[in-house]
Amino acid sequence: MDLKERNFLISGGTSGINLGIARVLASHGAHVAVFGRDPEKARVAAEEIAEVPGASVTMGLAADVRDPDAVAGVVAEAAETLGPLDGVIAGAAGNFPAPAVSISPKGFKTVVDIDLLGSYNVFWSSFEHLRKPGASLIAITAPQATQVWPHQVHVCAAKAGVNMLVRSLAFEWGPAGVRVNAISPGPIEKTEGMERLAPTPEIAEGFRRKLPLRRFGRADEVGNLAAFLSSADAEYITGCIIPCDGGTDLGDASADCLTPSRR
Ligand code: NAP
Ligand code: COA
Repeated sequence: MDLKERNFLISGGTSGINLGIARVLASHGAHVAVFGRDPEKARVAAEEIAEVPGASVTMGLAADVRDPDAVAGVVAEAAETLGPLDGVIAGAAGNFPAPAVSISPKGFKTVVDIDLLGSYNVFWSSFEHLRKPGASLIAITAPQATQVWPHQVHVCAAKAGVNMLVRSLAFEWGPAGVRVNAISPGPIEKTEGMERLAPTPEIAEGFRRKLPLRRFGRADEVGNLAAFLSSADAEYITGCIIPCDGGTDLGDASADCLTPSRR
């Protein structure tokens, strides 16, 4: 994968899975700009990415993905500093588990605004700054886009929208030489998302037991897929929602739900 000196921008790249993606891209010699809402967190993340062996230029910026003007500002700043963008990853998201009756219209809108509208804002602002042909856009979606999960009505709705956003943009922007895909991570260890969804060891074990691969994933495993999708090796792949999820998408594989072998 030749990502050396390719220019990347990652929304939500200041922690968790997206920071893991940033680290993998940097390890391939890519130039990486990350942003979140908190400028100090972004500065620290950029320093951390710069320490990855093989890393080159890194930048930490701040904007709320719900603010199109602020997003346009960071996209322009990244492109002015790094050059035309070869890859953009829309990974910023918000989540809190709650039953639908406890999620006010404002709470529902908050998550849809960050996950769905925020991804659109990032991709839309990026379009004029992309290297065309050749650029790759990746959204970070979730299994909730296609599976009903309890206490996740807002995330299910938002991420379902993200999946269709990706397919629609892939369709419209393909002729310009822009590929658009999504990665759907399963439960990834040591992330804010899983801290929120599985706050106790017992609940985490419940998740693990249902997974065909019986373990949580790592951020670098998602990063490896993002690196591949961003590379020339994937230049005929667009409009795809690709799980990196230990089999989450396949359904509940806990031992007591599996049919005994006939042998
Ligand atoms: P995380 O560590 O909480 O990362 C969220 C990132 O988004 C942070 O950089 C955060 O920085 C930024 N962010 C949040 N709201 C923002 C906003 N309004 N504007 C700009 N930036 C914002 O989360 P994670 O658990 O690693 O999840 C990362 C992505 O993977 C999300 O898209 C999530 O839906 C997806 N995912 C996660 C899992 C999992 O197991 N964790 C599974 C499936 C999918 P600031 O706080 O500074 O804004
Ligand atoms: N249950 C029900 N509603 C909740 C809630 C919960 N646990 N947490 C937040 N909300 C509601 C708030 O009550 C508010 O609605 P209201 O004014 O009608 O009560 C609405 O959501 C907005 O909350 P607010 O805290 O003002 O939003 P914010 O923009 O500051 O933060 C969040 C956005 C709520 C998504 C916050 O959790 C966040 O910043 N998350 C980013 C990190 C993250 O979620 N990581 C995991 C990614 S998968």
